[in-house]
Amino acid sequence: MKVTVVGAGAVGASCAEYIAIKDFASEVVLVDIKEGYAEGKAMDLMQTASLNGFDTKITGTTGDYTKTAGSHIAVITSGIPRKPGMTREELIGINAGIVKTVSENLVKHSPDVILIVVSNPMDTMTYLAHKVTGLPKNRIIGMGGALDSARFKYRLAEALEAPISDVDGMVIGGHSDKGMVPLTRLATRNSVLASEFLSEDRLNQVLEDTKVGGATLTKLLGTSAWYAPGAAVSGLVQAIACDQKKMFPCSTLLEGEYGLNDLCIGVPVLLGKNGIEKIVEIELTDAEKAKMQESAAGVKATNGLLDA
Ligand code: NAI
Repeated sequence: MKVTVVGAGAVGASCAEYIAIKDFASEVVLVDIKEGYAEGKAMDLMQTASLNGFDTKITGTTGDYTKTAGSHIAVITSGIPRKPGMTREELIGINAGIVKTVSENLVKHSPDVILIVVSNPMDTMTYLAHKVTGLPKNRIIGMGGALDSARFKYRLAEALEAPISDVDGMVIGGHSDKGMVPLTRLATRNSVLASEFLSEDRLNQVLEDTKVGGATLTKLLGTSAWYAPGAAVSGLVQAIACDQKKMFPCSTLLEGEYGLNDLCIGVPVLLGKNGIEKIVEIELTDAEKAKMQESAAGVKATNGLLDA
C-alpha cells in the first residue's frame, strides 16, 4: 500500500507520522515544492522508525511526481494555512491554483488513486478536485468532519467530565466556523444521550466551542493546528487501506442526498477499499435540515469564487 502526501508542512508531516506509526502502509512519499523540505522531513521521520517500531518506508521529493507513481491513496495538504483572525474561505485565491496543479499531477502518475483533500477551504477544494480530475465520486474525499467530530468529542468529554472513550458525537455540514452542524441531539456518553446529563445551555456551549475549535487553536498557535488534523487524515487513510468499512463524516459530492446537489459537503460515509463505499443518510430534524441548507448555501457561495 503506497500513500502519497503532498505538502510536507505541519499537517502533511503529522499525517505521515501517524500513518507510519500505525504501520499499515508499506510506503509513504512526501512531496513539497520547497527545495529539500520533503526529503528532510522524510529523513527525520525515518530516524524515528527504530524508536517508534514501524517498517513503513518514508521518502521525500521536491516536486518529482514520478516518485508518486502507483499510489493507492494521495493526501493533498499543500497550500497556505490561515493566520489568526482569518477565515478558511480567505485562502481560496492561493490554494485553488495549488490544489488544481497538484490533483492533475497526482492523477497523471496514479490513475487509480483515491484522493483525500485537506487544503482549505476544504469543501470547495474537494469540489475543485472533482472538476479538475473527473474521478468517480467515491475516489475524492474531503477531510473536515472527522476533525470537527474529534474536537466535538473533546469538548463533550470536558463538559461531562468523562473519559474521551466514553463519549460519541458527530459533526456534519461545511468545514467552516459558520457551516458546521454538530449533531448535539445524537451525542452520547456510554450510549446514553448526552442531553440526559447536560442542560441545553451546556450542550449549546459544547456546540459553540466546537465550531470555533480551529480558530481557538489558530489564535493560540499563530497558525492552524496539525496534530488532530494529521491524526484525522491518518484515520481515513487507514479505513481505506485496511478496508475497515468505518463511518466518518467526510466531504463528498452530493447528488440529491440530504436534499442537496452539485456541491461537496460533510455527511456520514462508509470508508473502505473503494474510498467512499456508501453515503449514509441519517434522519435529520427540520431544524438540522435547515442548518444543512444554510451551510450548503455558504459552501456554494465559496464555490462561486472559483469562477471569479
Ligand atoms: P504549512 O504551511 O505548514 O504546509 C503547507 C506546505 O505546502 C508547505 O510546506 C508548502 O511548501 C507546501 N506547498 C505549497 N505549494 C505546494 C505545491 N504546489 N506543491 C507541493 N507543496 C506545496 O500548512 P499546514 O498547516 O500544513 O496546512 C496545510 C493546509 O491544510 C492549509 O490549507 C490549511 O488551511 C489546511 N488544513 C485543513 C484542515 C482540515 O480539517 N481540512 C485542518 C488543518 C489545516
